[in-house]
Amino acid sequence: MSLLEVEHLRIWDGRTGVVLVPDSSFRLSQGECLAIVGESGSGKSLTCRALMRLNRSGIRQSGRIILNGVDLAKLSDKELRPYRGRRMCMIMQNGMRAFDPSRPVGAYLLEVLSIHYDWSRSEMNTKLSAAMTSVGLQDPSAVMGRYPHELSGGMLQRVMIALAIVLEPDVIIADEPTTALDAVTQYEVVEQFVQLRGRIGSAIVFVSHDLGVVRRIADEVLVMKEGVIVERGKTSQLFTDGSHPYTRYLVSSKEAIRSHYLQLMGGTDVAEG
Ligand SMILES: Nc1ncnc2c1ncn2[C@@H]1O[C@H](COP(=O)(O)OP(=O)(O)OP(=O)(O)O)[C@@H](O)[C@H]1O
Ligand SMILES: [Mg+2]
Repeated sequence: MSLLEVEHLRIWDGRTGVVLVPDSSFRLSQGECLAIVGESGSGKSLTCRALMRLNRSGIRQSGRIILNGVDLAKLSDKELRPYRGRRMCMIMQNGMRAFDPSRPVGAYLLEVLSIHYDWSRSEMNTKLSAAMTSVGLQDPSAVMGRYPHELSGGMLQRVMIALAIVLEPDVIIADEPTTALDAVTQYEVVEQFVQLRGRIGSAIVFVSHDLGVVRRIADEVLVMKEGVIVERGKTSQLFTDGSHPYTRYLVSSKEAIRSHYLQLMGGTDVAEG
């Protein structure tokens, strides 16, 4: 049985009636990583937020979101609360929006953990520190004492990933979790996701513009364009013989950038020959 099944997800703007995502269905098994790729504005973030019903109030949605047999779409906000964070954890594209601006980051993290677990404060601190160090935040207690606006976008993303590591959710929804990071940290963070999945079997929905990262981490890929899933398939297959023109365009533009860069750096592009 699938861990997460999304059936006929439809998302629209409640004020104008404009349909943003007409009809999306996909499923995810335990430990599986599903990547969502597609150009800016294709509906990737709307889709991610809809899984946890976190879109702004003007945005409406219908369809079934079944996690472990429970249709989340049917739950009240109160009933949904224990699922958010503990069962499904979201790493947002914009870190600033994820945190409470009026409190230090640490206060927020401890509160989230205390909603879901019975750990003592010192246990929570120990777990958070270890997780933060593992994603390259060298001084966890200093980070915990800062307000969100005092941290960079990349640091906030890493704090969210650290929180996910401690929460050990069934599903991690990662919306461009590495965009604000430099290449080295990006690599480390992707490795963290791979390990997390190996260790606790979390399923991952991974949105990224970086097809290299997608290749490294994803088992399957959904390609979105203007709110519609235009193609889907196993990662390796999609990269070599994607049939939709848009998929071929995405892959070829990535290859073009790579070979142009290699030429600039004076190398030859062996992969192309
Ligand atoms: N709150 C909103 N109200 C109305 N329309 C919205 C809202 N949020 C997003 N949209 C529209 O929905 C479409 C999809 O947006 P979304 O943020 O999901 O794109 P995306 O694929 O995540 O893009 P990016 O790669 O830039 O993050 C866009 O056309 C956007 O203008
Ligand atoms: Mg987005």
